[in-house]
Amino acid sequence: MGKMKQKLAIFLSGGGSNARAICRYFQSHERIEVALLASNSVNSGVKTISAEFGIPYLIFTKDEFYNSDHVVNTLAEHQVNVVVLAGFLWLIPGNLLKQYPEKIINIHPALLPKYGGKGMHGSHVHHAVFENKDKVSGVTIHLCNEKYDEGKILFQQTVELNEGDQPETIAKKVLHLEHEYYPKVIEQFLTEKK
Ligand code: GAR
Repeated sequence: MGKMKQKLAIFLSGGGSNARAICRYFQSHERIEVALLASNSVNSGVKTISAEFGIPYLIFTKDEFYNSDHVVNTLAEHQVNVVVLAGFLWLIPGNLLKQYPEKIINIHPALLPKYGGKGMHGSHVHHAVFENKDKVSGVTIHLCNEKYDEGKILFQQTVELNEGDQPETIAKKVLHLEHEYYPKVIEQFLTEKK
């Protein structure tokens, strides 16, 4: 048992730049590996990243996700012990929360509790930060529960915004932080638990 690696599944809905950063970080890690990529969308980065790193992937429908145990069963088959959400936009159903209590990690591209909740994702967040003329934004990494963006916060990092920063510039600054910190925070989280 001592030599068993901890196994991550990464869930993504979009391009998957965070998923890629995490796969790269754990590529030849001693204790942690990415065992499965999972997505609700064939148009996401899931297939490309799977091919690039030689990691299996699962694509599932809304019906499978909310009305069956297909996803939790597949995670169990791959002996996944931690679920990492990287730009995954669907609310996590009860069966998945139950199988992974305190073991589902999410990243949010703002300083929660600001700019969280349903519909607040990706560019919507950065537009809202821009409209409010905020002087800082940042990244939040937190545990998942049955509500959007309300689980226990594990980590936050701020970034300064300049007056001329457009939503796209804000997005770029925050994404840079995400890639830098998400893999390390996952590693830290898994190290503390074991
Ligand atoms: C990231 O900025 C992530 O924080 C955000 O979606 C983007 C995905 O980018 N997630 C949310 O907004 C969740 N509410 P990626 O596909 O390139 O990793």
